[in-house]
Amino acid sequence: MKRILLLTFACLCLAAPGISSADTPAKPTAEDFGKTADGTPVELYTLKSSKGLVAKIMTRGATLVQLHVPDSDGKSADVIFGFDDVAGYESEDNQYFGCTTGRVCNRIAKGKFSLDGKDYTLAINNEPNHLHGGVERSLDKVVWKAKPFANEKGTGVTFSYTSPDGEEGYPGNLDVTVRFFVPTDANRVSITYTAKTDKATPVNLTNHAYFNLGGAGSETVLNHKLMLNAPQYTPVDDTLIPTGEIKDVEGTVLDFRKPTRIGKGIEELTDTAALGYDHNFVLAEIPEGKSMRMAARLVDPDSGRTLTISTDQPGIQFYSGNFLMGQTGKDGKTYPHRSAVCLETQHYPDSINQPKFPSTVLKPGEEFKSTTVLNFGN
Ligand code: GAL
Repeated sequence: MKRILLLTFACLCLAAPGISSADTPAKPTAEDFGKTADGTPVELYTLKSSKGLVAKIMTRGATLVQLHVPDSDGKSADVIFGFDDVAGYESEDNQYFGCTTGRVCNRIAKGKFSLDGKDYTLAINNEPNHLHGGVERSLDKVVWKAKPFANEKGTGVTFSYTSPDGEEGYPGNLDVTVRFFVPTDANRVSITYTAKTDKATPVNLTNHAYFNLGGAGSETVLNHKLMLNAPQYTPVDDTLIPTGEIKDVEGTVLDFRKPTRIGKGIEELTDTAALGYDHNFVLAEIPEGKSMRMAARLVDPDSGRTLTISTDQPGIQFYSGNFLMGQTGKDGKTYPHRSAVCLETQHYPDSINQPKFPSTVLKPGEEFKSTTVLNFGN
């Protein structure tokens, strides 16, 4: 009898959430994060390292909601923008904070493209262009399914969503997954995207986190130092669509090959359509034998926090928060003009209309797979 009781107790322990073997951390569990306006429940998952990183990710838009990292004194701060509830994310104040962006992030000129002899028309939501996948059913606005997991290295959540053929005007049923993983022994978040389709379709996926390493809500990001592993960039017209050229950064305020204060040359760009930095940088080639390379390094000299981003993607959009409007976010903090940066690893904007850019076309039978790693230090 005693043996049976012990056995039952052992089985219950293994099955119970939050209890795991000595080597494997507990599988993350879902927390209730409220509901969307149409009544769909939204879940929130927490991933933690033993070095102080805490990431919270919700199922609406597979969105990074909080990201706490320690400074050089061990003091933690939430370094990304966001809101306290789903209603905040659904409001006009949300400028893609922390979300998974797609099906095609960034701009498509005039919302038009042709593929396999067919013309497609998408919503114009950033006059006169299409931006970040559309209006109502872009990947940032839909509620994804979550599958939490744990292994001997750390914990993660895989979010999945099937975007039906024709959603937001894009061809093909698209199965997308985004996997967030935090290793136990490092302050790191790995983001891996996969996509499969049953019709040729453009795909360009990124995460749209707004970072201020001094803590979200700090007044400015202009004193952060940025290094971009990018010898070139794609010049744009006055609607922020690439002209098709690829130019050297040398001799311009876009030269971030050495760590440079963001505020140093930004005023030269104030009178452009971008109102500051909002450019796609062409990343250096991936060295042979490697699957990715360092793309960007951001340093906040005040807190000592650093962020190093590695990716296998060909480009990175560096956006200096020029359209932020002092909206109120988490904990009542405000987000003024140029108080955060987005470093969006991706293919170049409008690639679907630019034959010379690396292709964003995904075909049936192929799998799109891409990884970006956010590495925090202090
Ligand atoms: C960025 C884009 C900006 C702006 C922002 C959202 O990815 O480069 O131009 O649209 O998203 O406000």
